[in-house]
Amino acid sequence: MKIPGCKTTYTSSDYSWLSKYLDTSSRGIIENLEAKLAEIHNIKHVVTVSNGTAALFVLYQALGMGMSGSDDPPDLLIVPSYTWPSAANAAAMLGAKVLFMDINPDTLNIEPHALEGLLATARGSYRRIFVVQIHQFGLVENSKSVRRICDEYGAVHIEDAAWTLGSSVPLAGVAGIWSFHPRKLVNGGEGGAIYTDDDHLADACRRYRNHGLDDEGNFSVFALNFRLPVIQAGLIHNQLNRIEYLIQERKRIADFYYSAFAGIEGISLPPKSENHLWQAFVLRLEDYDVSNFKDFCEKKGVEIAHAGFSTHREKAWVSNLLDIQPDLTKTTRYENSYVLLPSFEGMTTDDLEYTVNTIKEALSSVKCSC
Ligand SMILES: Cc1ncc(COP(=O)(O)O)c(C=O)c1O
Repeated sequence: MKIPGCKTTYTSSDYSWLSKYLDTSSRGIIENLEAKLAEIHNIKHVVTVSNGTAALFVLYQALGMGMSGSDDPPDLLIVPSYTWPSAANAAAMLGAKVLFMDINPDTLNIEPHALEGLLATARGSYRRIFVVQIHQFGLVENSKSVRRICDEYGAVHIEDAAWTLGSSVPLAGVAGIWSFHPRKLVNGGEGGAIYTDDDHLADACRRYRNHGLDDEGNFSVFALNFRLPVIQAGLIHNQLNRIEYLIQERKRIADFYYSAFAGIEGISLPPKSENHLWQAFVLRLEDYDVSNFKDFCEKKGVEIAHAGFSTHREKAWVSNLLDIQPDLTKTTRYENSYVLLPSFEGMTTDDLEYTVNTIKEALSSVKCSC
């Protein structure tokens, strides 16, 4: 049996939408998608772009990151180290400094009191401070308290909601981003979007995604092309028509894994929260040899993926860490312990049982140091 890590089931309706987009003029398709996303999330503005990383980059530019004068101190981005490196890399490319945060190993999110400490240390040494909060794998945690702390310290709070499209938790940040990468709930092949309630910020994002072109037809700022292709917009729009089903499917799979893995020594399950969308299901295997575990599952046809990276330990970053960089003890300790289990709509009970049995076999075969 072969169980992929992720899979999108495109329907006949997706295919007919695609052919409709190939046949008709593209006018209005992007605007319709943006309006639909804004309506689902009860947000004023959505600006689609070519992918989630571009969404962060365009948003940073629109917020003026890195646009300091030569006598100004640099800007600072604070972001958890344990994630995909998009948020940190985009900031570095705009000349901002990056301070990596440790994570709470259960939520993989920012600990508000730790953020407060970092803001207190950094305040005064940077022109502006930006905080990117990442709602990893679908769990939205502490967004209101992070916003409150950011406001208190004059920092800009951005939500990296790459994994939380469809969440009913309201926007807490100044703005946020989604990704339509194939691993995400809605798969556009690639794709991303910025969301915000701020009119001026939304206008600036539209300029920075499209060569700096303003409403009067002037190239008013230096910018590149990060537009979302129309065909992908159509594919994304059609999947949004069944977003409730896609969310319920991930929840069904999470419930199955929960009951199957409850009480097994040496593995930690993610916290059960009504704010979890279960876009991905992550296990923490603290006492196991994860690489042997993955190999074992792979040989049986079950795809298990590495769940994230410690960005501060990646080659591009090791020589670029700040002097005030705090310890990242939990990130470093747990970085290799998290695995992503297969989770996709249409996964059958047979698929799930085979996956669970394979994982249990793997757990009893690979060395446990507990
Ligand atoms: C938390 C997070 N932010 C941003 C991104 C970047 O999204 P994209 O792959 O669409 O560029 C990813 C990608 O997986 C991600 O996991």
